[in-house]
Amino acid sequence: MLDSLQGLQPHFAEVQRHMQVALATDEPRVAQLIADLGSFHGKMLRPALVLLVAEAVGNISTIHHRLGAALELIHTATLIHDDLIDDANTRRGQPTAHVRFDNTTAVLLGDYFYTHAFNLIADLNNSSVMKKLTTTTNIICQGELHQQCVARDVALTEAEYNRIIFAKTAVLTELAGELGAVEGSIDQQRAAAAYGRAAGMAFQVADDCLDFSGDPQKVGKTLSTDIERGRLTLPIIRLLENAGDKRPALEKRLLSVSTPEEVAAVRNLIIDGGGVSAALDTAREYVKDAQRQLGVFGQSPQRQRLWDLAEFIVARDF
Ligand code: IPE
Ligand code: IPE
Ligand code: MG
Ligand code: MG
Repeated sequence: MLDSLQGLQPHFAEVQRHMQVALATDEPRVAQLIADLGSFHGKMLRPALVLLVAEAVGNISTIHHRLGAALELIHTATLIHDDLIDDANTRRGQPTAHVRFDNTTAVLLGDYFYTHAFNLIADLNNSSVMKKLTTTTNIICQGELHQQCVARDVALTEAEYNRIIFAKTAVLTELAGELGAVEGSIDQQRAAAAYGRAAGMAFQVADDCLDFSGDPQKVGKTLSTDIERGRLTLPIIRLLENAGDKRPALEKRLLSVSTPEEVAAVRNLIIDGGGVSAALDTAREYVKDAQRQLGVFGQSPQRQRLWDLAEFIVARDF
């Protein structure tokens, strides 16, 4: 775990406890299913954003644990569905839900996680926070749909790619920042939201790079799914825009991959052709944008932790 998150361990434990309580049921077979899913925790980035911003604004309290739990439940629901859509076998170093159980159970489990996230927030009796959560979830689903609409479209522009990654990923980290500052001033809420948004954009671009260049053992999830699904992510967009008169041949090659050997060859082409490093440059610009938002938190250790988290988002290898 990132050094600057070490001190948050007891708070992460509280977030996980809220998630477990939310998912608990008296129905024995369903309870068994949730138990079989086991401890299915990832990096806890969204709760980390809530908690670090809460610390920067004042103190972490139980409301932040609950908010972190709700956002992590939404995130986990999207992953359970996303792995089924992507036909991915491994997530968080373990078999994905549809592999462990079956496709139907994975769809229903994702729904179960979503609805319990809403319930956790409904219990706060704060209609403004509830509205933000439902709108954010609408946008995430729209982003996943939008991504599906543009699959295999080699004319996808960076602007449209940006709208997709904002919707599927950065809207949730934006909300994590904003809700972390729920007890702060309007200025702090705005800055934390903008920080979360830019950090989320950086995060998804870095994730799109890891899909090509990551070590599956370290990342803990099935990689190369983007090439297989015909997803035109930023490393490919960068490679295509620099291809000149080789572009038509490159487009054809990207669209014709099917065997594992072809997938590996295209992956190497994107890395060696500079697509990944060019996309990482863009991710680092988003990191700087995120860090620029932090002035409102003064010079404090808490601000430094948010600064470091933004760096980690692009430097990570998992
Ligand atoms: C993976 O998110 C999905 C993306 C938005 C790229 P994370 O990398 O945060 O997943 P976990 O929660 O750590 O497993
Ligand atoms: C996932 O994006 C975003 C959501 C689940 C909303 P990816 O498809 O890139 O995530 P990974 O790579 O499978 O984790
Ligand atoms: Mg995926
Ligand atoms: Mg990915």
